[in-house]
Amino acid sequence: MSASERPESAREFYGRWAALYDLIARKTPGVAHLRRRAAAACRLEPGDTVVEMGCGTGANLPYLREAVGPEGTVIGIDFTGPVLERARDLVSGYDNVHVVRGDATRPPLDAAEDVDALLATFVVGMLEDPAGAVDDWCDMVGDGHVVLANAARNDGGEWYAPAVNAAFRAIVVLSTPPTTRLRYEDDPTGRLDAKIDAAHGRLRERSSAVADERHLFGVVRLTGGRLA
Ligand SMILES: C[S@@+](CC[C@H](N)C(=O)[O-])C[C@H]1O[C@@H](n2cnc3c(N)ncnc32)[C@H](O)[C@@H]1O
Repeated sequence: MSASERPESAREFYGRWAALYDLIARKTPGVAHLRRRAAAACRLEPGDTVVEMGCGTGANLPYLREAVGPEGTVIGIDFTGPVLERARDLVSGYDNVHVVRGDATRPPLDAAEDVDALLATFVVGMLEDPAGAVDDWCDMVGDGHVVLANAARNDGGEWYAPAVNAAFRAIVVLSTPPTTRLRYEDDPTGRLDAKIDAAHGRLRERSSAVADERHLFGVVRLTGGRLA
């Protein structure tokens, strides 16, 4: 298992960089549009219940709250304390948005909870078995919607793809804990791509597509599906 997949390492990393991550997560040009599209792909109705796995500092939560309205329920789950504190502050004005500490691969949810949609953005690349997690999430949602958004190399062949991919690789190396390591036995970008392919591929197999989009110069894939 690589360091980035070790829960302790990931928690330590996101805990230490919570403030910076929050800034990037909410202020990167184009990211607000992506989050709006991701929430829209959940196809929520007023009064619905939506779960966000690995909600981090809560950047998606206001969009989800807007979609379910005051009668709905939004549950954000993350296993890193400091990022959750930021998420809690962000949604403190809503009494129907709950931020819960827990593992997205063993979510602390009541089995009887009726979940209409599940969103996970920039999370599956950190899991040991991303396709297995997507299977579990689909089973949990039953007949609702599951939406994933993740960064991976741009494979679209546009003229700017090589430059974008070089920048993307630098970001992945710098943000793959432990960041003090200068060499990796294998390329973390390639490992990340394989995980994102596996997760999005599994969601496509399990659902009918409601969203299949690329954002941020093609490095962010948004896949949304309606489960049968
Ligand atoms: C890159 S951040 C993304 C946060 C948020 N989804 C967003 O779009 O800004 C990844 C988050 O996933 C959380 N995470 C990773 N693995 C997790 C797991 N197994 N259970 C719960 N949270 C997890 C980390 O703590 C971190 O907050």
